[in-house]
Amino acid sequence: MYRFVFTQVLARFDAEAMHRLALAVLRLVSALPGVRRALYRALAPHDPALRVTAFGVHFPGPLGLAAGFDKDAECVGALGALGFGHVEVGTVTALAQPGNPRPRLFRLPRERAIINRMGFNNAGAQAAGRRLRKPRGVPVVVGVNIGKTKVVPEAEAAADYAASAKELAPPADYLVVNVSSPNTPGLRDLQAVEKLRPLLVAVKEVADSATRRTPVLVKIAPDLSDADVDAVADLALELGLDGIIATNTTVSREGVRSREAGGLSGRPLRERSLQVLRRLRARVGDRITLVSAGGVEDVDDVWERMLAGATLVQAYTGFVYGGPLWPSRIHRQLSRRVRRHGLSSITEIIGRTAPR
Ligand SMILES: Cc1cc2nc3c(=O)[nH]c(=O)nc-3n(C[C@H](O)[C@H](O)[C@H](O)COP(=O)(O)O)c2cc1C
Repeated sequence: MYRFVFTQVLARFDAEAMHRLALAVLRLVSALPGVRRALYRALAPHDPALRVTAFGVHFPGPLGLAAGFDKDAECVGALGALGFGHVEVGTVTALAQPGNPRPRLFRLPRERAIINRMGFNNAGAQAAGRRLRKPRGVPVVVGVNIGKTKVVPEAEAAADYAASAKELAPPADYLVVNVSSPNTPGLRDLQAVEKLRPLLVAVKEVADSATRRTPVLVKIAPDLSDADVDAVADLALELGLDGIIATNTTVSREGVRSREAGGLSGRPLRERSLQVLRRLRARVGDRITLVSAGGVEDVDDVWERMLAGATLVQAYTGFVYGGPLWPSRIHRQLSRRVRRHGLSSITEIIGRTAPR
């Protein structure tokens, strides 16, 4: 049904205009407690066998919404009510910024993919902080993904990330240091360990000093070499980070015809994201939480990522093509599969196919 509506109606309109419309509807749902509660009762994961605990935080189910959908933390209540176990808001930058000129968001429906060069359009850390301090209305985990303000030079990047962390660590269930979006010039260079170290140290210092310690994760690109993936993994372990999110969008155009500039997400990213996850698991084992994102479209993908070592799984493009009932459907299918395998908890499968 959603697929029909999508191809016949939604796909005819500008992608960003449709995204804004979706956000407006979700904002409305967030603001209507009765509707939100009814959706939550009908759609959110309530099966105890799907509960997952990672870095001290309890998630009602393993599937979450990846960063970039709700950049300004406007509708976490509605997204939680639709059935996401967690919502990662952002990327938020210390200062508000408009992002790149439009058009900057392109759907590739034939390839089940999206190309975006949004460029961290957001209202800034203070605005996000204000919204995040309000009650969410439903018990959903909210992560906050932070990135570098475009006008801030690389030499001041650590202070810029720390400023965002100061504002956003207190209301966040976890923080993500994003150094992997292709749409802020030079951002991905910060993944080199000698540049990454001071950033992570600065953010961790802020996150550890709050009244409640906020977990810190780092999000990496699928375009890193295997050696660089290992180097980031080693650094994360050394600094006592809580987790790694793999992956962001790719600059590769393998598997798609479009040559629009920006980051590619969705199905064409699937294999590489899984490869990076496997590489990470081989390096860190279960010493640090792995969160897998990139080309997750169905229950088989979620299952496969968890078997390969992911404790949590995220999607963005799969939600766009799957529609509003998609997160709820995936969690329901996961419940059934857990039972079919005779398991009492989905956490029993984490890393089961990873080499020991
Ligand atoms: C339109 C769009 C905007 C995005 N914005 C961000 C962002 O601001 N920060 C970020 O870390 N990732 C961002 N992402 C990347 C996603 O969080 C995710 O890592 C990536 O799309 C791979 O997952 P997917 O294949 O399920 O979409 C964005 C993705 C899309 C499609």
